[in-house]
Amino acid sequence: MSELNKIVLKIISNGKGILAADESNGTMTKRLEAVNVPSTPENRLSFRETLFSSKSMGEYIGGVILYDETIKQKTSFGVSIPDLISSSGAIPGIKVDTGTKDLANSTEEKITEGLDGLRERLKKYYELGARFSKWRGVYSVSKEYPSKLAIHSNAHALARYSAIVQESRMVPIVEPEVLMDGDHSADICLKKTSEVIKKCFEELILHKVDLSGIILKPNMILAGNQSKDKIFGEEVAQKTLQCLENSVPSEVPGIAFLSGGQLEIESTENLNLINKNNKTKFIMTYSFGRALQQSALKIWSKNNKDKELTQNTFNHRAKMCSLAAIGKWSKELENK
Ligand code: 13P
Repeated sequence: MSELNKIVLKIISNGKGILAADESNGTMTKRLEAVNVPSTPENRLSFRETLFSSKSMGEYIGGVILYDETIKQKTSFGVSIPDLISSSGAIPGIKVDTGTKDLANSTEEKITEGLDGLRERLKKYYELGARFSKWRGVYSVSKEYPSKLAIHSNAHALARYSAIVQESRMVPIVEPEVLMDGDHSADICLKKTSEVIKKCFEELILHKVDLSGIILKPNMILAGNQSKDKIFGEEVAQKTLQCLENSVPSEVPGIAFLSGGQLEIESTENLNLINKNNKTKFIMTYSFGRALQQSALKIWSKNNKDKELTQNTFNHRAKMCSLAAIGKWSKELENK
């Protein structure tokens, strides 16, 4: 077993998943302002430190994705954030893309940037304790999108990123996110997501990336959020499994889904059904941002002196997600 494969399994085996706490300062500002909290470095740290020191970290969270600001911060009790995460048994990770820009010659679409100087940045992140990283490509859906140009150029960037990350002895999370914005059907989402993922693997293989040392982070297959033909539960699970069975090479150890704007319980239920129906040998778990943090953020914004209240909310969500990652979640458990 390679070193990279060992890291992957430590992050996602045995019902563990990933806490995606890597919101950029821009995104975190939106999240904090939505709950009437000013977005200062101290407030961003205080919320994240509260989550990272909760008891669910050791039990259910195998890895935490951090943003550049956070990986360099120290807690109020003087420990570095990566050390706090490692002491719980979870592995610190780092978002290394620098965000999206308009794609030249198809400017309604996006290309993710951040390859320049990546090798040097990774060296610093490794020294700070990171052992895995994340890069997100985004694809919008319409009649003509994602275009072949967007599919190809984002796959190329994801593959170049992955090769450099593995060279730096870290595990790349490969995140091609087909957005749920729009009125498209679930079948269109299935078709486009399959095309996007297949192209990613074509490029990853071309760039000689060790597939046993990556984690794929895709969207689940859903109808667009404006669609009149929404699909739910079993159908989401069936279509998501169909997509992944047909587009992910068998060497890949695991898949960790993003929540992508689904509600907390909705994404947990869908993950549970995916695992109940999973006949592949891929581990299927979570790498949720909003679906792990939303309720905790609301509670924290109103009671930020009472750490325990926020942590209890987060612990519950993490436990529910972990049960879903082994197909043992049920709605009744939500109210216990
Ligand atoms: P969500 O689960 O909120 O979609 O966030 C996951 C993530 O890391 C997006 O890049």
